[in-house]
Amino acid sequence: MKSQPTVTLNNGVEMPLLGLGVFDMHHQEAEQAVEWALETGYRLIDTASMYENEMQIGNAIRTSSVVREEIFLTTKVNDKDQGYAATLRAFDHSLELLQTDYVDLYLIHWPIKATRKETWRALEKIYESGKARAIGVANYLEPFLDELLTYSDIVPAVNQVEFSPFLYLESLKSKCEKLGTVLQAYTPLVRGLKMNHNLLQSLAQKYEKTPAQIILRWNVQHGVSPIPKSSNLLRIKENFDIFDFTISTIDMNILNSLHEDFRVVDNPIDLL
Ligand SMILES: NC(=O)c1ccc[n+]([C@@H]2O[C@H](COP(=O)([O-])OP(=O)(O)OC[C@H]3O[C@@H](n4cnc5c(N)ncnc54)[C@H](OP(=O)(O)O)[C@@H]3O)[C@@H](O)[C@H]2O)c1
Repeated sequence: MKSQPTVTLNNGVEMPLLGLGVFDMHHQEAEQAVEWALETGYRLIDTASMYENEMQIGNAIRTSSVVREEIFLTTKVNDKDQGYAATLRAFDHSLELLQTDYVDLYLIHWPIKATRKETWRALEKIYESGKARAIGVANYLEPFLDELLTYSDIVPAVNQVEFSPFLYLESLKSKCEKLGTVLQAYTPLVRGLKMNHNLLQSLAQKYEKTPAQIILRWNVQHGVSPIPKSSNLLRIKENFDIFDFTISTIDMNILNSLHEDFRVVDNPIDLL
């Protein structure tokens, strides 16, 4: 089994940097993708209550030859379940579906204005109970983080946001670094929309890798945790095969310069 880089979260918990995202995968597809990913060597699986596939993710983990303790499992509270009591209930329901008695990371999926504070209080309670080894947030751009820090006793271990060379959120990244919060990149492959970009193509040729591998490696070298989605065995393997090359500093800077504020998901700032 290939070794893979991990990052130590602010509470000492170890998390693999590269993970499999399972958004928009249904039932058998999700179960199969997680089976393949675990066989390939992935040890981080990112799901969410909203994806409606927690049971299938749980099935794949339960029947895998990889022991549960070696797998870093993330899920998220759905928007409709936000609020203190509702989040506590939703968390227990996620555990049931996932067929496990703990998750490694529990995230607030979106910073819903009316409920995000109470939801975070529930996450703190869950963390204290030991049923989530770490807690964090998603889509928390700087103003949301600033607000949370005014009332939080716990600094989020992870902040999962849309992030790619085409959306290089440099100032959020350095804020997270200062806080000790790991930045996690969702939609790292820009849903395939930029694979034909000239510069990506030429770097792929130069390093004898694919454009997807260049992007994922760029994340890892930034200390950012990418969670690409694929339900295709060849691409699951391709996305994992990024630990045998290094992008030069010059080429990292070239990739950084591709930033054009390009998003495929709504800008969370609109929720302020
Ligand atoms: N917290 C949030 O609000 C939030 C929002 C969005 C996403 N996420 C998480 O982030 C994960 C990843 O984001 P995403 O699913 O939106 O997008 P993504 O990972 O950027 O892109 C997935 C798309 O790229 C294709 N693909 C995968 N590997 C490829 C490769 N090597 N070459 C070319 N195409 C490739 C996939 O197709 P195939 O499956 O056919 O390979 C799929 O169509 C999600 O699954 C989810 O876990 C979180």
